[in-house]
Amino acid sequence: MQEKTGLFIVFEGLDGSGKSTQAEILYEKLIQLGKPVVKLREPTEGKWGKKIRECAREAGSLSPGEELELFIKDRKEDIRKNIKPALLNNKIVILDRYFYSTLAYQGARGIPLEEIRKKHESFLIKPDVVFIIDVPVSLGLKRIKDRAVIYRLFEEEDYLKKVRKIFLSLPDPECQIIDGRRAIPDIAREIWQYLEGNFPEQIRV
Ligand code: TMP
Repeated sequence: MQEKTGLFIVFEGLDGSGKSTQAEILYEKLIQLGKPVVKLREPTEGKWGKKIRECAREAGSLSPGEELELFIKDRKEDIRKNIKPALLNNKIVILDRYFYSTLAYQGARGIPLEEIRKKHESFLIKPDVVFIIDVPVSLGLKRIKDRAVIYRLFEEEDYLKKVRKIFLSLPDPECQIIDGRRAIPDIAREIWQYLEGNFPEQIRV
């Protein structure tokens, strides 16, 4: 997108990886620095996101292809209504899950990654950086086991191992793998240092 002017930061990882915690820490820090920043997530709170959540509660209610189409509809709407306007307004956009989750989760359901990429070609805005917070599947599952709402569809161990493998093998240069087994402040520091090193004029006061 030629006219994009803000900074677009994505957090990815397995459920329980700590990605949402890191997205929140970064958001708060940028707010404190007085930066114009918005934090968004996918699936969104819009009509397609709500539908995805409803369906996810019932394992097997959607085919992998149907699931893919819903995530794409949700993403298209998110880009049009939220992401693109914010970037054009010079904002920093922090997004919790995006295209890379579709590659990993729907790819792990058996949809070829090339097919997923092709379906995004016409509308995707590429982020400036994607932090993939990596944890072993067993640790992610341990961390989420007490959560009130668990999306059963997305949590079988073997499936999540495939998801992790795809996350770790993505060739896209914007992807940065971060070791999510460490203490929360250590991870936050690494992320901040990366941003300061690579996007100094957008990040520094
Ligand atoms: P959340 O717990 O981060 O809100 O995400 C809900 C689930 O949706 C999570 O288990 C991963 C899954 N998901 C996909 O399968 N494909 C996607 O494209 C996205 C954005 C999420």
